[in-house]
Amino acid sequence: MCGIVGYVGDRKTTEILLEGLNKLEYRGYDSSGIAIKSQDNIQIIKSEGKISDLEKKVENSSLIESKLGIAHTRWATHGEANETNAHPHQFGKVTIVHNGIIENERELKEELINKNLIFKGETDTEVAAAVINNCYQKDPIEAITKAMELLNGSYAFGIIFNDQNKLYAVRKDSPLIVGIGTHENFIASDIAAIIKYTDKYILLEDNEIVELSQDGVNVYKNGKKISKKIEISTMSIEEANKGNYKHFMLKEIMEEPIVLQRTINKYINKMDDIFDVSNYDEIHIVACGSALYAGMIGKNLLEEKANIKCITECASEYRYKKVIYDRKTLVILVSQSGETADTIAAMRKAHECGIETLAIVNVKTSTIAREAKYQLFIEAGPEIAVATTKAYLLQVAMFSLIALKAANKKGLEKEYDDILQEAKLLPEKLKKVLNDKNIFKVVGKELMHKDDAFFIGRGIDYSMCQEGSLKLKEVSYIHSDAYQAGELKHGTISLIEDGMPVFAIITDKKIKDKTESNVIEVEARKAQVYTITNDKTLKTHHFKYVVEKISDYFQPILIVPPLQLIGYFTADSRGLDIDKPRNLAKSVTVE
Ligand code: F6R
Repeated sequence: MCGIVGYVGDRKTTEILLEGLNKLEYRGYDSSGIAIKSQDNIQIIKSEGKISDLEKKVENSSLIESKLGIAHTRWATHGEANETNAHPHQFGKVTIVHNGIIENERELKEELINKNLIFKGETDTEVAAAVINNCYQKDPIEAITKAMELLNGSYAFGIIFNDQNKLYAVRKDSPLIVGIGTHENFIASDIAAIIKYTDKYILLEDNEIVELSQDGVNVYKNGKKISKKIEISTMSIEEANKGNYKHFMLKEIMEEPIVLQRTINKYINKMDDIFDVSNYDEIHIVACGSALYAGMIGKNLLEEKANIKCITECASEYRYKKVIYDRKTLVILVSQSGETADTIAAMRKAHECGIETLAIVNVKTSTIAREAKYQLFIEAGPEIAVATTKAYLLQVAMFSLIALKAANKKGLEKEYDDILQEAKLLPEKLKKVLNDKNIFKVVGKELMHKDDAFFIGRGIDYSMCQEGSLKLKEVSYIHSDAYQAGELKHGTISLIEDGMPVFAIITDKKIKDKTESNVIEVEARKAQVYTITNDKTLKTHHFKYVVEKISDYFQPILIVPPLQLIGYFTADSRGLDIDKPRNLAKSVTVE
């Protein structure tokens, strides 16, 4: 999604802004821009495409002397991804950058056009700039407060006024932090953008307005100054960098054993303090994309092992559908970023219905982390690649622990202590799998010229297929679908042709023979079958990779990383921009 950086201080403003934009690049964008201010002038430079295109334009411009500026990466929502629609937008005395969506943009624009105002582009942000400008007499805080009453929707704004030498910002339902430096201050969509300069930050809450000068930060709510706690970020500069890896995605996959160790260590010895889901009659797991697929593994384990009725639903559907809460229900929200708009809306819907919520989340300062009734934090650290890998794996691990605990609580797990011991060995076992990465590199090379692929499996294996398929398609752009292995023959098998890659995930021994027979069906139609399994006795078709057989609770943790590596290496063989796949954004803060 869009990214915001703002700076006030003595350093070279353009350098800080461009550096910050580069750090936010991972969120996904299609254009970018900066606005810098001198005593009496504002200079705006914008560009379609990469930040490097903006950098070239900045290099070729004669820049004004500036101690104050705002910058933005835009992921198009209202209006095409072109230079006119790129931020910052200026209207009268107001220049702004914006994350989020103004929902009543159309009505506001019509009203303003009727007052003879003229708009250059198609964005809701330009309309917001006009609204703030209309509200501006001479007090910026008053103007922003009035404008907030008129603007519906979600926003984080960075704002400069022509006749003020301060930087202003405000947020509602869109993340924004304030970085506190020494004789310099910042705003940013996340700490990665400014961690090189400061680890101190203030978390803005909804409807709080901040005024930043070089030597001070004032926060206002309802027109009154309020005091805020200064937080210290634990992010290291190394975590925000690629190190020796070619891509963040590979770095993050290879970090999985460490972050898994961190997460298991945190929860394993206080298993009884872990949230107890056995108190609930029904669980709704609500999330988007990979987080939803992690939830599907959770559903399988909770039902099969702990005997708890469980549904999974993507948040964009759940938020609008009729949900019947006729039992003691828990809603589990799963989110790496904690800022996914649909997941936030689903959480708020549950709260409105008086339902308890538990968040499985990575970013501790996020909206979901702050608003959910209970929280379980995975310890993934910053995840920069757009495609999630390590955070997904930890979401799965968290569900494994939750299900294990619930099954034990209900007296359904005889081998509880042994399984706990096994959990401690998991990071080492995963390391061994990742050490085989060159095997998956070869698979990636085989796939690079394919147009389609299928992933098939049953039960929990199908949930892993969903993630394997998503990873492959989102980073390599190869069309791919996941199917319940038994479902393929009801139509989709007509697509299977000579040489088509079909990945079969086979770990569940109850149904492995059934999946095997589906494999034989596709092989008979000349599919090229790749099996990932925990059963070395299975027949090898075109390719077989066997992981160690471990407890059902944790088996997905050894199976999915090979699929992540296959997605990665296929995309790498195709020479793609793996960390920032086209059209995608890291945290989807709009509907
Ligand atoms: C896929 C991917 C997405 C996210 C989804 C939810 O690789 O990263 O499908 O899983 O957008 O994001 P969070 O977990 O931040 O709510």
